Amino acid sequence: MDSTVRLLATGSCVPEKVLSNEDLLKMVDTSDEWIVSRTGIRERRIVSEGEENSDLATEAARRALDAAGMDPLDVDHIIVCTFTADMPLPTSACAVQDKLGASHASAVDLAAACTGFIYGLSHGAAMVRAGHAERVLVIACETLSKVTDYQDRGTCVLFGDGAGAAILDAGEGGHRVGSFFLAADGAGRHILNIPDGGSSRPPTADTLARRGHCIKMKGQEVFKFAVTKIMQLIKNAAAREGIKPGDFDLVVPHQVNRRIIKAAVDRLNMREDDFFMNVEKYGNTSGASVAIALDEAVHTGAIKEKDKVLMMAFGGGFTWGSAVIHW
Ligand code: ACO
Repeated sequence: MDSTVRLLATGSCVPEKVLSNEDLLKMVDTSDEWIVSRTGIRERRIVSEGEENSDLATEAARRALDAAGMDPLDVDHIIVCTFTADMPLPTSACAVQDKLGASHASAVDLAAACTGFIYGLSHGAAMVRAGHAERVLVIACETLSKVTDYQDRGTCVLFGDGAGAAILDAGEGGHRVGSFFLAADGAGRHILNIPDGGSSRPPTADTLARRGHCIKMKGQEVFKFAVTKIMQLIKNAAAREGIKPGDFDLVVPHQVNRRIIKAAVDRLNMREDDFFMNVEKYGNTSGASVAIALDEAVHTGAIKEKDKVLMMAFGGGFTWGSAVIHW
């Protein structure tokens, strides 16, 4: 079944504006040394005034369509994976459909936090397999700078904005979509969340005063969760593909932070070089991070023909998941 779905092309887009560690020193009590040693992040990109989530998503999509030699009118279905949509209603996906001129496509947002791109690919592949769509555009896009508390040094050093996209269709040959794995544990929803601003606690003067519409996180609990899940995801994906973890030619992990990835790599006896990382340039862009890293890995030649590529992510919810592409 999986052999009938392939990934046609990728694209990505990050904002022009750079927020460096030096810039953050002027905002909170931190240091370049602390940020780099704890996370590996040196700078991140953030949107400028007036630049919308759907602008980044649309540009990433355009680049993927160009790479595939496709017209926007050829797209049947658009999935935008995000929890920082332009507005609560309507979806960013509808804005992308309009901005792209993809008027034949249905459009939906999907929220799975940092696992967004993996969930989106899985749902897109399922649409193709079921015959509900021939060509699906999966975009993961976050404007985390809009939900980051720049007075909280424990979180503001981590996050950045950006978008990545991939196009799926039915067909033999090309980059064959392999096995997926998706999971969630909602009992972890209090560990990493944006507590206010939703329908449980709509915006009030109080929620604004306590910055409840920004990301709150118990960092060390997220760290432990992430390391455990990375190891499980890699071992399980290898078992599903009938190979050993070291047989993946490239792992494209959620760009969360270097220390988390290193902790998992050491426990698995894998090589850090087998993991594609760009977190130093973009920070953690949540669900967009795997999509942006995948596109960069394609364009820098880190992914080669016939490579077995494992993408994986974990994050708020909790959610976690993996996707294998036979390049
Ligand atoms: N600069 C300087 N000091 C800081 C900073 C900062 N930016 N942030 C926290 N500190 C201080 C703390 O106040 C604390 O000081 P204290 O000892 O005087 O109380 C000290 O550093 C240690 O704080 P910890 O929170 O224990 O720091 P830790 O070593 O755990 O590192 C970090 C924090 C980087 C957030 C780590 O917990 C982590 O990587 N967690 C994973 C979370 C993550 O990456 N989440 C991303 C979103 S979720 C996702 O994508 C899966």
